[in-house]
Amino acid sequence: MRHVLVVHFSQTGQLDRLAQSVCAPLREHDGIEVDFLALEPAEPFPFPWPFLGFFRIFPETVLMKPQPLLPLAVDSGKRYDLVILAYQVWFLSPSLPCTSFLASAEAASLLKDTPVVTLIGCRNMWLMAQEKVKARLQALGARLVDNVVLTDACGTAASFLATPLWMFTGRQKPYSWVPRAGIDEQELAAASRFGDAMTRRLLADQQPIEAPMLAGLGAVKVDEKLIASEKVGNRSFTLWSRLLSALGPQQSRRRGVGLVVYIVFLLCLILTVVPITALLKKLLAPLFKARIQREKAYFAGPSGE
Ligand SMILES: Cc1cc2nc3c(=O)[nH]c(=O)nc-3n(C[C@H](O)[C@H](O)[C@H](O)COP(=O)(O)O)c2cc1C
Repeated sequence: MRHVLVVHFSQTGQLDRLAQSVCAPLREHDGIEVDFLALEPAEPFPFPWPFLGFFRIFPETVLMKPQPLLPLAVDSGKRYDLVILAYQVWFLSPSLPCTSFLASAEAASLLKDTPVVTLIGCRNMWLMAQEKVKARLQALGARLVDNVVLTDACGTAASFLATPLWMFTGRQKPYSWVPRAGIDEQELAAASRFGDAMTRRLLADQQPIEAPMLAGLGAVKVDEKLIASEKVGNRSFTLWSRLLSALGPQQSRRRGVGLVVYIVFLLCLILTVVPITALLKKLLAPLFKARIQREKAYFAGPSGE
């Protein structure tokens, strides 16, 4: 019998549906037992998000400060053949529930010497978050064997508006003039192909999973135009997070004032740095072709595009 653990959290239900789609083929087989571990923050995050509340958690998220979770309903002594870690990106970082799980004693024992597939459902900027998760997994002695990423269908520019509107209103298409936010329904359904491939590998023999199972299946797509924006954005996020944390605790007035200044700065950053770096990347692409290909291949790992 093969044992698979799926660790998940979702506010809108989108990532849970993605995890269910991937896991459906695994659950169909008698030879595979799938356990689900839902992460529940001790103090639930609001959804839809109040405008300032959305940004109040920014420093803790970026600095990856774990927040209390309700007791994890899992036998942390059990050995799993595979752990699927489903997470969404918050501020170019893993979401706080995922960060908190990775900092827990249970994660330390569940993930040690265990193959992990990361499963991301986000707007479309996930590279830096995955770098942070990779570092945590490595520190825990886990083995990242595959990464699957599904992103919002409406595209980079439109999603800068559509996804926050979804977060603030709770509706995926709150106004007729905004494209629908979120991952395409057909893509969610088609994610079962990843579960098929995992099932084939798990049932092929009883050996530990050492190598990627999802190569050639389009598990990720790296948008090279966003690599520089993510790196610059992440550096700026880290500096601002330190500054905002120093101003006061999450609900303090001083942090609230700092956040308002920051939000204006962030809007300027999105409206300038993202298009400028994307344009520069495009213009300079012929000069840096080899380097861009190397970076794309690196970020696409371990599953590849
Ligand atoms: C506080 C917050 C910050 C977010 N930051 C990012 C981000 O930096 N990059 C990104 O691609 N998506 C970002 N998103 C979108 C989420 O990754 C995700 O697509 C959305 O929250 C729906 O996920 P869920 O309903 O499964 O929780 C953010 C969402 C929230 C709530």
